[in-house]
Amino acid sequence: MAFRILFHLSLLLLHLLLAPRGINANFEGDALYALRRAVKDPDNVLQSWDPTLVDPCTWFHVTCDGDNRVTRLDLGNAKLSGNLVPELGRLARLQYLELYMNNLGGAIPAELGGLKSLISLDLYHNNLTGPIPASLSDLSALRFLRLNGNRLTGRIPRQLTKLGNLKILDVSNNDLCGTIPSTGPFSKFGEESFANNPRLEGPELVGFVRYDVGSCN
Ligand SMILES: *[C@@H]1O[C@H](CO)[C@@H](O)[C@H](O)[C@H]1NC(C)=O
Repeated sequence: MAFRILFHLSLLLLHLLLAPRGINANFEGDALYALRRAVKDPDNVLQSWDPTLVDPCTWFHVTCDGDNRVTRLDLGNAKLSGNLVPELGRLARLQYLELYMNNLGGAIPAELGGLKSLISLDLYHNNLTGPIPASLSDLSALRFLRLNGNRLTGRIPRQLTKLGNLKILDVSNNDLCGTIPSTGPFSKFGEESFANNPRLEGPELVGFVRYDVGSCN
């Protein structure tokens, strides 16, 4: 009897020790694998992305920290087409999301606002459509936001003025409209950050909220 209890207790202990780590690691691998399934990859740059491994840390173009959590995704210039996936927003320790110079289409998932550690969001030179999600204003660590060279529409969300660490913003070469926020980090961005958006109306007036009434979407 005592042996049985001891046996069950040690099984329980083994579960408690092993399960959280396994679940966590698979969770991030699954999020990345959702991206693999959503894109076309003619050069097979994602060939090493094997979802049966315990974590994605040995996959090419993925970098992890000492706890085997994903910190970087480096897939610039990789000839990927297809869509971004909301699952990417689960990578809570991701610092660098580098997907520039591909041919990704569709919208920027609002879920990317869940990337609490993100320092750099580089989606420039793709074929992305739809608005800049206001949820990107939750990325409090963000320093580099480059969305230039897409087909983004709608207003620049005023909430982005909350991004106190933002050093570089580039939303040029899109189809944005409305006025340009001018407070917070926006006070230091030059015109080149906003160039070639024919429907963008210029900076809002400081000290005055200008409510746009014209159509802009
Ligand atoms: C961009 O996406 C549209 C569909 O939304 C497609 O028709 C067009 O061919 C794409 N552009 C490029 C360069 O692939």
